[in-house]
Amino acid sequence: MVQVPGPFKTPPSMKLDPKPLAEVADTALQADDAAASRVAPAAASLATPLRSASRRSEIPVFEVMQITDEVARRRHAGHDVVSLCAGEPSARPAPGTLQPAGYTGPLGTTPLREAIAGHYRKWYGVEVDPARVAVTTGSSGAFQLVFLTAFDPGDRVALVSPGYPAYKNILSALGVEVVEIATGPDTRYQPTPELLEAAVRERGDLAGVIVASPANPTGTMLGRSELHALVNWCAGHGARFISDEIYHGISYAPDGPDRRGVSAVELNGDAIVINSFSKYWGMTGWRLGWALLPEDLIAPFEALASNFALSPPAPAQELAMRAFSDETYAERDRVVEGFAKARALILDAAPSLNWGTAAPSDGAFYYYSELGQQLERYADSSSYARALLEGANVAVVPGGDFDPVAGHRAVRLSYAAGEPAVAEALDRIIRFQRD
Ligand SMILES: Cc1ncc(COP(=O)(O)O)c(C=O)c1O
Repeated sequence: MVQVPGPFKTPPSMKLDPKPLAEVADTALQADDAAASRVAPAAASLATPLRSASRRSEIPVFEVMQITDEVARRRHAGHDVVSLCAGEPSARPAPGTLQPAGYTGPLGTTPLREAIAGHYRKWYGVEVDPARVAVTTGSSGAFQLVFLTAFDPGDRVALVSPGYPAYKNILSALGVEVVEIATGPDTRYQPTPELLEAAVRERGDLAGVIVASPANPTGTMLGRSELHALVNWCAGHGARFISDEIYHGISYAPDGPDRRGVSAVELNGDAIVINSFSKYWGMTGWRLGWALLPEDLIAPFEALASNFALSPPAPAQELAMRAFSDETYAERDRVVEGFAKARALILDAAPSLNWGTAAPSDGAFYYYSELGQQLERYADSSSYARALLEGANVAVVPGGDFDPVAGHRAVRLSYAAGEPAVAEALDRIIRFQRD
């Protein structure tokens, strides 16, 4: 095998600025708007040393993908590089036929990683080193790689129920023990340090905690102090904190600095943040997301990503550069205003639906409610949902997938469908229940 000497032995993404984070931020601060002022505290502030990356991430990085990344970097910097590196055809096809696109670096293109870092400056006023940004195939791709990087089989990871089912299903598939914490209206369906303590007493030490705010299926959000308490609990217990921020930007709180959601990266530089272009930007089918990684996980993550996925999709990355223009933000905010109107229709209709307890729909586009008296007519929410689809052609999701214990009493409505569809569905549901 030909050994590639020199720079490629060290992953480009590992060549981090040797300056401490605070100093990097100082430099950026001088260059940037003074509003971009908050810098996440670095690992040194933690009470308990961070657990190390997983043993299974100790695989060699796929060197071809690193060289591909370095080639792109050099071309971006204006160098005329002849690449005989990747196994990808470069012949241009005739117009109207296929549009091939080449691999990018395993963690994404440099411009997109920089643009994502810029998004954190714009929305959260926090400096993020682009080297910490890993672009992935949707946030789903980020979960797989982050879980593989951070946890080993047998590790315990906590998450709440009701919750997004893929977290626990991916973790289980990877041999990680899932610790489901039952939550309800008393904690807005979110975890608390007390609930985490109780989980440790019952099941043992946790290797990680996953939170989502706004959450799926409940839509509930964590305030800054609640999120901070959870981040601190993890820091104090050597557990990885994973924050799914896919619904950031879709919230209905009054205007204020935290309206779009508080990012865990504002609070602790060691938090793992996962996000996506799927929800706020509506780009579900482009399959593009990202993770912000703590420095110690960048190289292990890259080793896994370069072997498992080679690179995130190139055309999607190119398109995603447009996500961060003022015009796009304004357009997406208008879409969120539309969600707000659809949400108001549901909240106004709630008394007529005559269901049971509903989660406060702070953000995302979900309304999660117990069915209340409907369960006198239907055995569970699955039977209700089936009957509603057959009898009124309205599709809602029964809660069992989100919560194996209490979800059989609840349903989730997505109001992402927009105002006219939601109005029609509500009419039909009310008529269906009356008949
Ligand atoms: C909470 C949450 N996280 C992650 C995802 C995955 O989204 P994607 O892989 O499209 O980024 C979803 C999709 O519905 C979700 O609801």
